[in-house]
Amino acid sequence: MFCILFVLFLFIYHPVCGVFQKLYCSLSESCECDFKPNIKDLEWDLYKNVYGQHLAQDIVSEEVSKFLNNKSPDRPLVLSFHGSSGTGKTLVSSMLGNHLYGSAMSSPYIHQFFVRTKHPSLCLQEELKNWVQGNLTECARSVFIFDEMEKMPSGLVDVLEPFLGPSHVVFRTNYRKAIYIFISTTGEEVINKVTLENRQAGQDREEIKSADLQEAIAQTAYSNSTSGFFLSSIIPQKLITRFVPFLPLSRRHVERCVHSELCQRGSCGRSDVVEAVGGDMIYTPVQGQYFSTTGCKAVPAKINFFL
Ligand SMILES: *[C@@H]1O[C@H](CO)[C@@H](O)[C@H](O)[C@H]1NC(C)=O
Ligand SMILES: *[C@@H]1O[C@H](CO)[C@@H](O)[C@H](O)[C@H]1NC(C)=O
Repeated sequence: MFCILFVLFLFIYHPVCGVFQKLYCSLSESCECDFKPNIKDLEWDLYKNVYGQHLAQDIVSEEVSKFLNNKSPDRPLVLSFHGSSGTGKTLVSSMLGNHLYGSAMSSPYIHQFFVRTKHPSLCLQEELKNWVQGNLTECARSVFIFDEMEKMPSGLVDVLEPFLGPSHVVFRTNYRKAIYIFISTTGEEVINKVTLENRQAGQDREEIKSADLQEAIAQTAYSNSTSGFFLSSIIPQKLITRFVPFLPLSRRHVERCVHSELCQRGSCGRSDVVEAVGGDMIYTPVQGQYFSTTGCKAVPAKINFFL
């Protein structure tokens, strides 16, 4: 017995023994692919390196730790990220990948899906279904990231419905251990409006509550024909665990992005560049100039210009 354990131990920890690991995984319930979640590191990264997004920080840490601490979740974790471009949606999705798997975002169990066609086809639906099902059969602890949902043809996402619900077990696979992340700009109008009203009322940004936005984002996703979830039963069935709003960034946040990027390039001390890039962004609305229209998106390019 000891000998077998020892041999298995070698198989699991020896990277060249991928084939044996696969064999072991198919025989064992306990082996979870490359899954090595570090929730503390994820939280630290979220709170230290994402600027101006208290809702995303709180919701993502809370939901991920709740989900991973549950040994047999009754449904997968489904998060939908919403907000204007440059507010940190992609950044947060990579942080998740980075702290869940041994090989970070290059893990073979993190899958990113981009669709750039507006023409839904049965073929595409079948492909998407097989892709999710096939990968879940290989590894129940898979992460699926659907970026730019607003470019996804309406109706396509519906093939995911059976995977997102509570009761699916196919083959030996437990579908309920997967994590799905949807990313889109849908709902940016309502998120930006709530943030603007908060600012104009002179309140703290942190006073904006997640509950203030959940229903509004769900409604927009359901009723806007370019959301990727247009008239999808995924919304009324409440298969999305939480909507994660990303708020528009003010100059102070943009400057933190600039500072952090400069530090990564070894030029931490260049406050002149921080100031110049911060001053070079476009801010809305005209009255007040509160929020950067492009968030932190153009920061690296502008640094190249001013450095
Ligand atoms: C799993 O996903 C990868 C891309 O992430 C894809 O290339 C592969 O075909 C998928 N596997 C199955 C069995 O569908
Ligand atoms: C749907 O969303 C797009 C992109 O966010 C927006 O431009 C458009 O005004 C929205 N349509 C409606 C009817 O709200």
